[in-house]
Amino acid sequence: MQQVAKQTSSVVQEFSRFAHQYDTYNMIQAKVATALVSMLPRQSYKNIIDIGCGSGEVYKNLESQAIETERFVGLDTSSEMLTLHPNHARVTTIFSNFNEKDFLNDIPKMKYDLVLSSSSLQWSTDLSYTLGTLAMLSSHFYGAVFTSGTFKTLHQTANVKSPIYNIDTVQDAIKTYYRNVHFKVQHYRLEFESTRDMFKYIKQSGVSSGERKLSYKQTKKLMETYALNYLEFEVLFIEAKK
Ligand SMILES: C[S@@+](CC[C@H](N)C(=O)[O-])C[C@H]1O[C@@H](n2cnc3c(N)ncnc32)[C@H](O)[C@@H]1O
Repeated sequence: MQQVAKQTSSVVQEFSRFAHQYDTYNMIQAKVATALVSMLPRQSYKNIIDIGCGSGEVYKNLESQAIETERFVGLDTSSEMLTLHPNHARVTTIFSNFNEKDFLNDIPKMKYDLVLSSSSLQWSTDLSYTLGTLAMLSSHFYGAVFTSGTFKTLHQTANVKSPIYNIDTVQDAIKTYYRNVHFKVQHYRLEFESTRDMFKYIKQSGVSSGERKLSYKQTKKLMETYALNYLEFEVLFIEAKK
C-alpha cells in the first residue's frame, strides 16, 4: 500500500477572551478535544482507548457528539484527574504512565477500534516508544498534540527553546507506525486583560513554556517586554491508519 502523507494548515485563528472562570485553564484543551472527536468518521465503535484522558474531555465529547462506544478505556497518570472522569458501566479508567516501560501490561487486552489522545502526548519523553506501543493496540489512531509553536513569541522574546516537540518530529514518529496519515495544524490564541493574568495562566495551566528555566529577574523582564496581549498555541491533529 502506498503511504499517504497529507498536511493541511489552517489559517483560521480562534480567539478566546480570558474569562475568570473555573475552566479557563482548560479552555484550549476543551476546544482541541471537541475538534478531535469531530474528526471521527463513524457514529459507533466497539472499543475505544483514550491516552491521557484527564477528567474526560474526550469521553464527554463522544457523548455530546452522539458517538457511541460499547467500551471506553481511559488511561492517565494522574489519579486526581481520573477521579474527575465520568463514571459509567462502559467506562474503565486505568492509572498508568505512557513513559514507563511495559505500560502496555496495564491496558485491558482487547481489540481496540481506535486509540485516541487529546492534548497529552507532548508529555511523552520518548515519542517513538509511546507511539510504537500504542500502535500495537489498534490500527487506527486519532490524536492532537501541542507542538513547539505553542508560546512561540514568548519563547522568542525570552530567547529560550520550546520544551516540546516540533511538528516534523511528531509527524515523522507517526509515519514510522502508520502508512496512511493525514495531518492538520491549527493555531489558537488566548487573549488576556493583563500580562499578570497571562503569566498566572502559564503557571497554572501546566502547559510548560520553558519559563522555569528563567530566573525571577528574567521572568520579570519577560513580562515587561512581551508585546502581545495573547498567548499562541499550535496543535497538530493526526489521523493515522496502518
Ligand atoms: C492537558 S491534559 C489533557 C486531558 C484530556 N485529554 C483533555 O483533552 O482535556 C494532559 C493529560 O495527560 C496526562 N499525562 C501527562 N503525562 C502522562 C503520562 N506520562 N502518562 C499518562 N498520562 C499522562 C495528564 O495527567 C493530563 O491528564
